[in-house]
Amino acid sequence: MCMLTLVSNRLPVRIKENGEAERTTGGLASALAGADLDGDYTWIGWSGGSKEDISDLKNYESTLQKVGVSPVLLSQEDIDGYYEGYANSTLWPLLHYMTGRARFNTDWMPVYRRVNQTFAETIAKHSSKNGQVWIHDYHLFLLPKMLRKLRPDLKIGFFLHTPFPSSEIFRALPERDEILSGLLGCDLIGFHTFGYLRHFRSSLLRILGLEGDAESLWQGNREVRFGVYPIGHNRAGFHTAMKSKQYEEALDLHNQHLNGGKLILSVERLDYTKGVPQKLAAIRHYLKNNPEMRSKVNFVIIAVPSRKGVHEYDVLTEKVQREVGAINGEFGEVGHSPIQFLHRGFPMEELAALYALADVCLVTPIVDGMNLVAKEYIDCKRAKYGARPGALILSEFAGAAQEMSHAVLVNPHNTVGVAEAMEHALAMSDDEMCSRVRAMQDRLERNDAGAWAKRFLGDLATDPREETNGI
Ligand code: UDP
Ligand code: G6P
Repeated sequence: MCMLTLVSNRLPVRIKENGEAERTTGGLASALAGADLDGDYTWIGWSGGSKEDISDLKNYESTLQKVGVSPVLLSQEDIDGYYEGYANSTLWPLLHYMTGRARFNTDWMPVYRRVNQTFAETIAKHSSKNGQVWIHDYHLFLLPKMLRKLRPDLKIGFFLHTPFPSSEIFRALPERDEILSGLLGCDLIGFHTFGYLRHFRSSLLRILGLEGDAESLWQGNREVRFGVYPIGHNRAGFHTAMKSKQYEEALDLHNQHLNGGKLILSVERLDYTKGVPQKLAAIRHYLKNNPEMRSKVNFVIIAVPSRKGVHEYDVLTEKVQREVGAINGEFGEVGHSPIQFLHRGFPMEELAALYALADVCLVTPIVDGMNLVAKEYIDCKRAKYGARPGALILSEFAGAAQEMSHAVLVNPHNTVGVAEAMEHALAMSDDEMCSRVRAMQDRLERNDAGAWAKRFLGDLATDPREETNGI
């Protein structure tokens, strides 16, 4: 048995209908996959799809075990109530300050509870005595307390990959007490920024009446510690990708296609937190005001399908596709459409080539816990791998903005401001681009996904302080 168990709803791989394993998209899976944890760990999570659809369970489990993963199987009813329902229709919008989008359905919480309990039982079976368990994200808020009941010997850590909103927002959640006390089953709870940690502590105080010091809280004679651990990107993975043949081929091909034109890239899951309609409004404004650039710019929008079947996402996809068509119809010319909308996921080598070539990367979420695309773009700006200089336009409302002050920072709701930032970025000299990129690269080097994981796990491993009764 391994000494470390990673736990997340989303695994780095999922099994496709034809039985093959496929890499999944999203910051959690991509950073953890690049966290360089020396191989001595097991990863427990959901591998996508419902258990009713698995025809050969043995083969399914052994395919996953080969990549170090133990699956938690979910029925269609579990997926509806736990994943699509409570996690992604109630918690996700609320954690991102979008109370208007949050749906409250009393049928979902019992399913969320049941699935968290299933995770607890699976982990209890797989984890070695006195081992470490590192739980990830909002799908599993109740798990720490459930697991502690079953296995008090384990060291339990939790990391939240989303923002933690102001207590004014969080208290709208009907099950707010249960969620907070679920989390307090941990030894260590981590957040991306000080702001998120501050909001969490004020929710503990205002909702549960619990007040600790800046770094911890006592639950009886057990200390629950808190910390700030901004996640880094999979640096090693991107550097390896940039040495590959696929990367070189993609670089050549896209260079030919660009034919001297400008590439303005955006890469995200198609999620309403990412601000894609707002970005399209800014692109429309830019194209309207810069007619001489219409045939010279290529807006490549990679929008990976996400959470299909959740109503809000289905509506967003249609809306975005319609607006892309309208902009291309209005500003396109024979042989050139200003926007290329790519509605699928791309492998790392291909992404790295696009990052390397892009004159501008447009990262404009409305709210985002961190945003790894911004970090990956800057890291791929390496002249030794044939990268061109480039500028990052970054939303102030992404956690990453706190570490990347050399980006061109924008308010994504300000259509004119974002369009002007595009003009500014496209007119920037190579020298200025390079000096901004270098300043950000220095910082990224010190805190990649591996360093992030080591810092969290190092802190989780330290022995708790003895209770001092305030003396
Ligand atoms: N990504 C990918 N293929 C794609 C698009 C994105 O592998 O076609 C990865 C990207 O490299 C990044 C992650 O998906 O590591 C997105 O993470 P981010 O933190 O930006 O946003 P999230 O999806 O977690 O909200
Ligand atoms: C965000 C969340 C992750 C999630 C990812 C992809 O990064 O913080 O927990 O895995 O989005 O979303 P999905 O619903 O496909 O897992």
